[in-house]
Amino acid sequence: MLFKKKTTVLFMLVLLVLAGIAASKPPKPTFKNLKVLPKNISHDDLDKVMDEWKAALGVRCNFCHSPRKDDPKKMDFASDDKPEKEMARDMYRMTARINKKYFHYKQGDTTAVAPVGCMTCHHGKEHPESSAPAKK
Ligand code: HEC
Ligand code: HEC
Repeated sequence: MLFKKKTTVLFMLVLLVLAGIAASKPPKPTFKNLKVLPKNISHDDLDKVMDEWKAALGVRCNFCHSPRKDDPKKMDFASDDKPEKEMARDMYRMTARINKKYFHYKQGDTTAVAPVGCMTCHHGKEHPESSAPAKK
C-alpha cells in the first residue's frame, strides 16, 4: 500500500517536471523570413504592419510579394524575389533611424506613436513627390 502511494507520488512528480519542460520551450516562430520585424511577432501584429504598408503606398500585397512557383494563384510571402520587398526593408530601417536619431523615439515604445511612418512621405503613393507640382 505504502509502496503504491510512493510510486503514484513519484509518477505525478515526473509528469509535473515533464509538463514544466514542455511549457518552458519557446514557441516556434510563425514566420520564416523576417529580417527587420521582430522574429516572434504575432500573426495579428504582422497583419497590422502589412496593412499599414499597403495603405501607406496605396498598393496591394503583390506589390512587394511574389506568387508561388508551384501554384501562382497563391502568394509566397516568405520569398524575397521582388526587389520592392528588399526596398521596403531598407525603408523600414531608414524610418527607424530617423525616429531614433532625430526624434529620440525608442523603437517598440507602446506609450507613444512613432513621429515618422511610411505614410509621412508616401501618403498613399508608391513614389513620393520630391518637389511641389508645377504652378498652372
Ligand atoms: C511595401 C511592401 C509590402 C507590402 C505592400 C506587403 N508586404 Fe508583407 N512583407 C514585406 C516585407 C519587407 C516583409 C519582411 C519583413 C522582415 O524582413 O522583417 C514582409 C513579410 C510578410 C510576411 C511574413 C512572411 C515570412 O514567413 O517571412 C507575410 C505573411 C506578409 N508579409 C504578408 C503580407 C500581406 C498579407 C500583405 C497585404 C495585406 C503584405 N504582406 C503587404 C513587405 C510588404
Ligand atoms: C523620408 C521619406 C520616406 C519614408 C519615411 C518612407 N519612404 Fe519609401 N520611399 C521614399 C522615396 C523618396 C521613394 C522613391 C525612391 C526612388 O524614387 O528611387 C520611396 C520608395 C519606396 C519603395 C519603392 C517603390 C517602387 O516603386 O519601387 C518602397 C517599396 C517603399 N518606399 C516602402 C516604404 C515603406 C514600407 C516605408 C515605411 C516602413 C517607407 N517606404 C517609408 C521615401 C520614404
